[in-house]
Amino acid sequence: MNETFTLTNGVMIPAIGFGTWQIPDGDPVEHAVLSALRTGYRAIDTAAIYGNETGVGAAIRASGIPRKDIFLTTKVWNDDQGYESTLNAFDASQKKLGVNYLDLYLIHWPAVGRFFDYKAKNLETWRAMERLYKDGKVRAIGVCNFLPHHLEPLWEQAEIKPMVDQVELHPGNPADDVLTWCGAKGILVQAWSPMMRGHVFDYPVLAEIAAKHGRTIPQIVLRWVLEKNVNPLTKSVTPSRIADNFDVFSFRLDPEDHEKIKTLASVGRFGSDPDQAKF
Ligand SMILES: NC(=O)c1ccc[n+]([C@@H]2O[C@H](COP(=O)([O-])OP(=O)(O)OC[C@H]3O[C@@H](n4cnc5c(N)ncnc54)[C@H](OP(=O)(O)O)[C@@H]3O)[C@@H](O)[C@H]2O)c1
Repeated sequence: MNETFTLTNGVMIPAIGFGTWQIPDGDPVEHAVLSALRTGYRAIDTAAIYGNETGVGAAIRASGIPRKDIFLTTKVWNDDQGYESTLNAFDASQKKLGVNYLDLYLIHWPAVGRFFDYKAKNLETWRAMERLYKDGKVRAIGVCNFLPHHLEPLWEQAEIKPMVDQVELHPGNPADDVLTWCGAKGILVQAWSPMMRGHVFDYPVLAEIAAKHGRTIPQIVLRWVLEKNVNPLTKSVTPSRIADNFDVFSFRLDPEDHEKIKTLASVGRFGSDPDQAKF
């Protein structure tokens, strides 16, 4: 199992990312990100809307780890979609993070319920992403929460094609349609909420597989994500869990484990459906 994924432009991204959604700015996010960096994580995922970019940047500096060894992602929020507003949002994020480049910049949602013509708005936003990429301000660009029918129109018009799609993905929502579409185009899929927002503990089948391997349920789920060639983002504010979630490189699931996990595929989403979200 490679400990990195490689994007279509050759940029490498660590196999496991550390997510920061719902971790307040200041001490909480600084402690969590520092704990993750000390554990060995080298990819950190934040977003303008999380309101914690200042603390994420402070933790990176406090870690003493060279900037070039950390893969840093942030996202443009729906309010800022559009050409000039995306460029301004990028500058604001960069200032808060205190960095002179980003590794990955993502459109946070297609924002289907928000704009009269979301496809046109996404394309305008994308033109700004392309500008930032060409100017060397960001090493890779992509989207989040885009389903194949949101990706298709963007893909057709994009001069620089999206390199990443970050979606809700876990045993209850394996997102096979996204994996198939992105797989064919070489887009790396990232999994958000791999722990089903804590619900991974509700399913005996996951407990059985964990007992068989002498592993924890979160470790089983993260292996499952990795073995689908998907890049998981795991979030915890608890140092022991942060360490547990990183210790997944010395075992593999068996084919029958994958078959058993498929039985959870009808559970469904815990987050918003990109086609129904109104924000
Ligand atoms: N692009 C998007 O629209 C989008 C949407 C949602 C999330 N994301 C990204 O994806 C990241 C992950 O998603 P998420 O935050 O929803 O996370 P998640 O992985 O589904 O769930 C996090 C929850 O699981 C708990 N947990 C984590 N590891 C555990 C372990 N080993 N044992 C027991 N409990 C454990 C955490 O508890 P404690 O923290 O209390 O330890 C937290 O309550 C986010 O932080 C964010 O960076 C992106």
